[in-house]
Amino acid sequence: MISFKNIVPYVPSPRKAVKKMIELAKIKSGDEVADLGSGNGKILIAAAKKHKKNLFIGIEKSFFLRTITKVKLFFYPVLKKRIQIVNHDFFNFELSQFEVIFCFLTPEALRILTPRFRALRRGAKIISYMFHLDTNEGFHEEIIHLTAKDSIYVYTKK
Ligand SMILES: C[S@@+](CC[C@H](N)C(=O)[O-])C[C@H]1O[C@@H](n2cnc3c(N)ncnc32)[C@H](O)[C@@H]1O
Repeated sequence: MISFKNIVPYVPSPRKAVKKMIELAKIKSGDEVADLGSGNGKILIAAAKKHKKNLFIGIEKSFFLRTITKVKLFFYPVLKKRIQIVNHDFFNFELSQFEVIFCFLTPEALRILTPRFRALRRGAKIISYMFHLDTNEGFHEEIIHLTAKDSIYVYTKK
């Protein structure tokens, strides 16, 4: 159910966090990678530049942000083939095919998504900027503090 509490505003991840998130994801050749709420596409574009044998999916409900991403991709025709931006609500999107999921959401959104994350295949990774899962049961959790105020949480499905 989507209510006021589930609203996730647009705030881009800082460049330093994006770099670290991609490093921590340890993307392997062939992994399918998603960004839940892909914003202006910065995580996916940076990841696709580094990992050339992967498919990247951004799930973004904002027409404006999808358009910004598509304009950016216009300048990267090589990446364009490997990055898909879909107009969908990530709360209702099938996630089971992904090996790596990036997210910068809210505690409430993560709470709603946690049961879906639990259904991911073994070894799948969730890289969450700023917010952690309330319950890490079923995952190996790694916490990386970037500064006193922001952290990255990495969950690997057991
Ligand atoms: C905090 S921003 C993060 C953007 C980007 N991932 C980044 O880290 O720079 C969250 C994004 O999720 C999108 N969003 C919020 N709720 C959504 C939903 N239910 N389905 C798809 N996208 C959503 C917003 O439009 C926004 O772009």
